[in-house]
This record gives sequence, structure tokens and C-alpha cells, in this order.
Amino acid sequence: MKVEKDFVKEKFDKIVRRYDLVNLIGSFGRDKFWRKKVAELLDGCEPPILDLCCGPFTLTLELSKRHRVKFWALDFSFQMLLYGKPRITNKPIVPVCGDAEQLPFKSKTFGGITIAFGFRNLPNREKALTEFYRVLKPGGRLIILEFSWPKNFLFQKVYKLYLDIYMPFLGGLLTGDKQAYEYLADSIKAFPPPEKVKQMLEAKGFRNVSFTPLTMGIVYVYRATKV
Ligand SMILES: C[S@@+](CC[C@H](N)C(=O)[O-])C[C@H]1O[C@@H](n2cnc3c(N)ncnc32)[C@H](O)[C@@H]1O
Repeated sequence: MKVEKDFVKEKFDKIVRRYDLVNLIGSFGRDKFWRKKVAELLDGCEPPILDLCCGPFTLTLELSKRHRVKFWALDFSFQMLLYGKPRITNKPIVPVCGDAEQLPFKSKTFGGITIAFGFRNLPNREKALTEFYRVLKPGGRLIILEFSWPKNFLFQKVYKLYLDIYMPFLGGLLTGDKQAYEYLADSIKAFPPPEKVKQMLEAKGFRNVSFTPLTMGIVYVYRATKV
């Protein structure tokens, strides 16, 4: 499956108002737990922290509850940033409209980088990882939260129905854009398995790469360090 940047941007621009609601109902409230896990894995990271593909700051806000440091939050959808802006008033969060594959930051700037449900949407993940590595300080940490295709054969059957029928129905009903949620299903099925993601990270120079399945392996959290 080829990820088209313009298509992805158009879809996120369109679903922004109901984005968090669909996530909450669609994940049966699990999405908050997944984001909390990312916040825990940032413990001990040096500031500042960069949250990539931040959407309406859903993860950034969760992180800022646990880490009283400065955050930069980047997304290429101006509509997402605009919609989320009132949420970050008086918070140490700097919004940036930009492309995660071409970061507008100097090398060795951040002690930590997070990206939740955004990595899958990047057409050139190799290029993106090179950029993430570049802007991290030595010893800096990258945390990726991403969907995955579950390994249990029986659960795969149920999950396929959930992705192919339930999510497009729910997403279509709440956002008016069923196609965005059909894309979600296709992109999850096409995303590489965790072992392959680990190899990609190691090939880029990341070390101490580990991954943990969450909620029966429909989501994985990856942790990697720049040496
Ligand atoms: C599924 S949302 C995730 C939002 C948020 N991180 C969360 O935890 O809910 C993915 C976000 O990635 C953004 N995105 C996709 N491709 C991008 C790119 N190349 N550069 C920057 N942002 C991108 C989209 O605009 C969207 O807001």
C-alpha cells in the first residue's frame, strides 16, 4: 500500500472536529491508557521534547501532565493545530506546522521524541527515522506508539471485522468521512510487524530498541535510544 501525503493531509484536515471522540469510542477508552504508557516511557528524558504528528495535541497534553518541561508539537495539518490551539493556552507547548519527514529543527536539539499513530502515515519512514535521529541529542529517546496487526489467529478474525466494518461505520457516522477510516484499516494491515520496525530503527543507528504489545497486540509501543 502506497501512502499518499496529500490524501492523508486532506483526510486529517476533514475529520479534525470529531477526531478525539472517534478515538475514544472506537478504542473503548483504551487510547488514554496507551498515551499514558508513552508518558511513562519518557521518564528521565532531558528536555525539550518533540511530539510529532501531534494532531490536536492529544498526546502532547497527556505528556505535559507528567513532564513539566517544554514541548514542541509538530503536525502538517494546519486544521489540526488550529483546532487544538485553545487546549494549549498557557501551557509550555509550542505548535509547529511542518512535515515529520523534513524537520525544521537543528541537529541534536531534543532529549526525547514521541510519535503516536503518525509513523504509519509517513510515506518515507526511512527518511523520517534519519530525521528523528538527527534532531535527537546523543542519549535521547524515541518513543513510537503505533497500531499493529495482532498475532493471535482467532483474534485476527474479530479484529478484521472491527477494522473493516465497525470503525468505518463509526468514523463515517461521526465525521462524515467513511473513507478516512477505510484508509485506517488498510494502513494498519500494511504496516510492518514489530520485529521489522525494530530492524528499521537499528539500521538507522538506534540502540536499546525494544517493543511492548498493548491490548492484545493491536498497538505496540517502541522505545529506542540515540547513542
Ligand atoms: C492519527 S493522528 C495522531 C494524533 C496524535 N498524535 C494522537 O495521539 O492522537 C496522525 C496525525 O499525523 C499527522 N501527519 C501525518 N503525516 C504527517 C507528516 N508527514 N508530517 C506531519 N504530520 C503528519 C496528521 O495530520 C495527523 O494529525
